[in-house]
Amino acid sequence: MNTACSDFLVLAEDQDELKTFKAEVSSGLSSSPKRLSSRFFYDEEGSDLFRSITRLPEYYLTGCELEILKEHGKRILSLLGEKEFNLVELGSGDGSKVVHLIDPVLAKNRRLTYLPIDLSASALETLTDFLCRRSPNLDVRCILAEYSSGLQWIKGHLEGRTMVLFLGSNLGNFELAESEAFLSQVRAGLSPGDVLVLGLDLRKDIETMVRAYNDSAGVTARFNLNLLRRINHQLGGNFDPRKFRYYSTYSPGSGGVDSFLISLSSQSVFIRDLCATFDFEPGEPIYTEHSHKYSETEIRRLASQTGFVIEASFYDSRKYFVDSVWRVPGQG
Ligand code: TRP
Repeated sequence: MNTACSDFLVLAEDQDELKTFKAEVSSGLSSSPKRLSSRFFYDEEGSDLFRSITRLPEYYLTGCELEILKEHGKRILSLLGEKEFNLVELGSGDGSKVVHLIDPVLAKNRRLTYLPIDLSASALETLTDFLCRRSPNLDVRCILAEYSSGLQWIKGHLEGRTMVLFLGSNLGNFELAESEAFLSQVRAGLSPGDVLVLGLDLRKDIETMVRAYNDSAGVTARFNLNLLRRINHQLGGNFDPRKFRYYSTYSPGSGGVDSFLISLSSQSVFIRDLCATFDFEPGEPIYTEHSHKYSETEIRRLASQTGFVIEASFYDSRKYFVDSVWRVPGQG
């Protein structure tokens, strides 16, 4: 539902996303080792499952970041000064985090435009509905787009200061080279004085990190296996998800948790829309995701390599997670 406080800009079509999905499944399952990008986890079912993951006791990331924003939201906002500003969020979430940045601004009767960028129209609609009900004075402008085209649009269309949020340690799902390219792109979309708030999961004891991706209720397994179901629904595949198991492990070399779907038998899977059959050996993995866990040194290096200056770092009480606030240097 589109309420009065919101506006909807469409820069991506469902058809484009389906084409990308098809191309990526084709190249990912043809490569060796096989891989499927976690960016495709989030269809409607996948988004619901991820929401359940964020409420699991083992998945500490969401709780830690909520604690940070509740505790330090006002201080994060104060880094932008008192002027009017735009709050851009990459990936729309369910609103539970961003309200801790929105509420204090509105409480001071300051004007605020909130611009979530996401590829899922239904996620944007649910979020807008929630926010507009709570705060009818908030100006919400949804951008249905890839992050890159959304950021490009923003560069030409916004006045005043901008704060970009990229929360949930979602940066950690990119490979290192990709995350550098991505951050440089964010940097290019901003002006001197603008700010990026980056939520990053920190390196900690291995058991805690591994447990977050191995919950006892099996929700994370279902979340990964849902990708095979999505291929079945959207591309006419005949994956039998029962013939795969989810496995994840911490890799000290790369510094993150790696997730896999592993074939339990020798099997062939046909995907109608690709007119192709893919063979699996018993024990053969499909690599689905790297969830990077950051060290402070890495964070500093990333910021300086991509043209940002670290302005402040906010931690939860256990120091599991950081919301690192980066500024674009120069006059602003
Ligand atoms: N961005 C989340 C993360 O890396 C996504 C996620 C949660 C995830 N649980 C997962 C990805 C399990 C793969 C496997 O934490």
